[in-house]
Amino acid sequence: MRAPGSSANLGPGFDVLGLALDIYSVAATEGDGEPADPHHPGVVAFTEAGGEGPLWVRTEIPMGRGLGYSASVRVAGAAVAFVQLGLDDDEAAEAALGTAAALEGHSDNAAASALGGAVIAAGDTVARIDLALAASVVVWVPDLTTAGTDSSRRVLPEFIQLDDVVTNLGNLALLVTALTTGDPRALAQATRDLVHQPGRLDALPDSAGAIEAFFELGAWGAWLSGSGPSVAAFVDPALAGVVAAQLPPSGHAKVLAVDLDGAVVLRR
Ligand code: HSE
Repeated sequence: MRAPGSSANLGPGFDVLGLALDIYSVAATEGDGEPADPHHPGVVAFTEAGGEGPLWVRTEIPMGRGLGYSASVRVAGAAVAFVQLGLDDDEAAEAALGTAAALEGHSDNAAASALGGAVIAAGDTVARIDLALAASVVVWVPDLTTAGTDSSRRVLPEFIQLDDVVTNLGNLALLVTALTTGDPRALAQATRDLVHQPGRLDALPDSAGAIEAFFELGAWGAWLSGSGPSVAAFVDPALAGVVAAQLPPSGHAKVLAVDLDGAVVLRR
């Protein structure tokens, strides 16, 4: 079973929006070398979902960088268990979303990894956005900084000013509109966030600098990817390579695409 990584929040969609990316984890009941450790998050999800026997997990998603590593391996592991239990591929992906979201404590990354594309996770309801935006997703990953989601959530504000909530709601509405119409013009404003990014970026000055660099280089919109420290941006595909090459040297950039498949069984 293969499940994509993801970028959560996209600015104002804190704990609500997720975007699947074409970087992947694969989990299987057969593999080369040693199976994954019982404490591996993919194995924990596999076991939680009722899977039995050893599990092999490999991933190209960096851990602790805000690119959905844990959700990806959890969705892949849980989906293997549900296929083992007799569910078909789509049912397994949907069931794996439930298992992974419960283990994550929030559904945004898990929904993107399970369903692919751009997703909205609102309470118990998950919806896929009909994505019309033709953009590259450039991610900037700092070389030396990691940010655990738990510690990164401890800096979140207890209270938010009403004005800031209104601004975020407007930006979120603009963002979903831009994604569904494909018109990138509002994205610079639409990806600005006043809820979770200010506190997090105070602790991640290089990431704050990368967001500003993205805008200076002409990115359509840029945000702290999940809880950070990576930064992601929607960029005109014709400019993506040029933008990626000019980002701050304290990190490395990758030009990615949106994964539209979500969790899928890889058949030989
Ligand atoms: N929505 C979550 C957060 C994503 O911002 O904490 C964590 O990857």
